[in-house]
Amino acid sequence: MKNRILDEDMTYILGKLSAEEKNKLKDAIILISGCGGFLGYYFMHFFAHFAEELQIKKVIALENFLTGTRDWLDSLVESNDKIHLHEFNVIEDNLEDIEDADQANLIIHGASIASPIFYRIYPVETMDANVTGLRRMLDFYKEKNIDGFIFFSSSEIYGDPFPEFIPTSEDYKGNVATMGPRACYDEAKRYGETLCYVFHHKFEMPVTIARPFNNYGPGMNINDKRLPADFAKAVHEGRNLVMLSDGKPTRTFCYIADAITGYLKVMLHGKLDVFNIGIDKPEISVAEFANLFMKNAQKIYDYQGKVEFKISQDQHYMTDNPNRRCPVIDKARKILDYNPTINVAEGVGRYLQFLKINNGELL
Ligand SMILES: NC(=O)c1ccc[n+]([C@@H]2O[C@H](COP(=O)([O-])OP(=O)(O)OC[C@H]3O[C@@H](n4cnc5c(N)ncnc54)[C@H](O)[C@@H]3O)[C@@H](O)[C@H]2O)c1
Repeated sequence: MKNRILDEDMTYILGKLSAEEKNKLKDAIILISGCGGFLGYYFMHFFAHFAEELQIKKVIALENFLTGTRDWLDSLVESNDKIHLHEFNVIEDNLEDIEDADQANLIIHGASIASPIFYRIYPVETMDANVTGLRRMLDFYKEKNIDGFIFFSSSEIYGDPFPEFIPTSEDYKGNVATMGPRACYDEAKRYGETLCYVFHHKFEMPVTIARPFNNYGPGMNINDKRLPADFAKAVHEGRNLVMLSDGKPTRTFCYIADAITGYLKVMLHGKLDVFNIGIDKPEISVAEFANLFMKNAQKIYDYQGKVEFKISQDQHYMTDNPNRRCPVIDKARKILDYNPTINVAEGVGRYLQFLKINNGELL
């Protein structure tokens, strides 16, 4: 299905890449794990839209469909012969069995569960995708001739920073619990970063680490159970927005088109380094974020609902949830020319317009 929002976003992302960056995609064979998830949705649409124009040779897309969805991916693959989809579990399946995986020169390791509700249901699988899955990926490519490798870490590696470290820059070392409901995710990402560092030093691998800060937008399945998805689902179903905290924690929310631009730049950087990828302002409370959904929904969906405060049945819902999350992105601005521009009010509107056009679905 044609979706105006998606098309505009793809053009926006392309427009943010330099000639040099575009040139690095020429003749590339890109291997992406976790392609059926939220970020995968935008990566895959970008490659499908521009593979021809950018002369990308092939995209090898891997996904085990633990939480990722299939219908839109099947449709992309059917309409684009450069994209090859494989049902593949990064924890136990062999890259040797995947045609041309050994020829890939740009690698995106995104496989992991990112939604806290789901990673607490699958804590072992979450750790394994970020540790064993990453390790097997690094082992496979350590002596091959690759030009770039992006590992998706997380802003969660900072834990709940002390106030003097907010906004948070890459050199902050973190305040993270090794035990607790979020530890499977946070600590696996931290260990994953160390693996990247070690493999770079031992094998000169061009691994670059992205630390994403709260992305949202089209491609996030409304059943994903992350906050923006919950709000979007409530709007789509005409129900009240339910707030399971007091609404006071603050975040900056980065629209997906800006974030994917950043990740492409990180992947194409081709050197060991680590970058915060997100947006640095405005830092707003979760209650204000809910209000932005409500206001946009009134215009787009003729929404009549309001915000309701409830206590979660889940006693660990808020355990170790950071109170503030706000990145310093100067490093990515300076080195990668990363410059996010889509304000959260506009981005929420775009997400809801996308869902309205697609009737809540991704296909
Ligand atoms: N979206 C964000 O704001 C955000 C924030 C911080 C970090 N990240 C990281 O970025 C990456 C992508 O995030 P996302 O939002 O698209 O997550 P997502 O959960 O929507 O997608 C991840 C995909 O990986 C797949 N997957 C999980 N385990 C796998 C395995 N063993 N083998 C193959 N596939 C597997 C899942 O089925 C899912 O489709 C993840 O590593 C995530 O931790 C994202």
